Amino acid sequence: MFSLENFDIKLNTDIIGRNFVYTEEIESTNSFLLNKANKFSTDGTVLLAEKQNKGHGRNNKVWYSTRGYNLTFSILLTNKKYLNKSFNILNFAASLSVANAIENLYQLKTELKWPNDVLVNGKKIAGILMESISHGSKVERLVIGIGINVNQILFQGSYNIPPTSLKLEINDSVDRERLLAEYLNNFEETLNKFEASPADILKDWKSKCGLIGEKISVTDGDKVKYGIFDDIDEEGFLLLKNKNKIEKIFFGDVNI
Ligand code: BTN
Repeated sequence: MFSLENFDIKLNTDIIGRNFVYTEEIESTNSFLLNKANKFSTDGTVLLAEKQNKGHGRNNKVWYSTRGYNLTFSILLTNKKYLNKSFNILNFAASLSVANAIENLYQLKTELKWPNDVLVNGKKIAGILMESISHGSKVERLVIGIGINVNQILFQGSYNIPPTSLKLEINDSVDRERLLAEYLNNFEETLNKFEASPADILKDWKSKCGLIGEKISVTDGDKVKYGIFDDIDEEGFLLLKNKNKIEKIFFGDVNI
């Protein structure tokens, strides 16, 4: 089971994860923190669940995770200083920190896939889902949900990108408390950098995005577009080049 004591010793943050909530079972950590009626409003609150019954990813896909093996958690941000900045770059900050934490602790090379996947050896090791609630045009609460495959070794079901876990990649069990603390420490640093200079986050993210310059397809529902992955613009949108035209892509799944 998750040891709060071991986690707490390793947490070095000022805000992120200082209000830490652990639960055995929940529908979805994202949905719970997003719902104002649940009365969580402290900026940086982290909710970790051993099992989600309605864990979801982008495009309403189910996020599968076996009880007790992985990390499925959400971070609530309520401080206005992050909320009305670029949503996509904040999303990049969250996935960049997963990549940094994995590289720092296990020396694995990670790759980032637009918009929000973390890959190791071409397989998906983590996914991020940011959701928000707005009042008029102002974002009021924002939740960053993170699923990291840690000690699970069997994956059932069908996946767009084949899944992997840290245990499969390093052939050893991983200390979830240490990984979560490393992630949150790194995320707080990255968040401060995001506040000061979003362009630096974009630069760091792009340096880990292997597909720039490659021929890709982008699927959005039943629509598929083809072209060269030209770049990511300053707002975090993908620029797809076809013949001499550049199209800005807002949503979609990228494939080689
Ligand atoms: C994706 O790859 O599509 C994103 C997956 C995000 C899954 C996490 S697990 C914790 C949080 N709660 C959810 O319901 N989803 C996110």
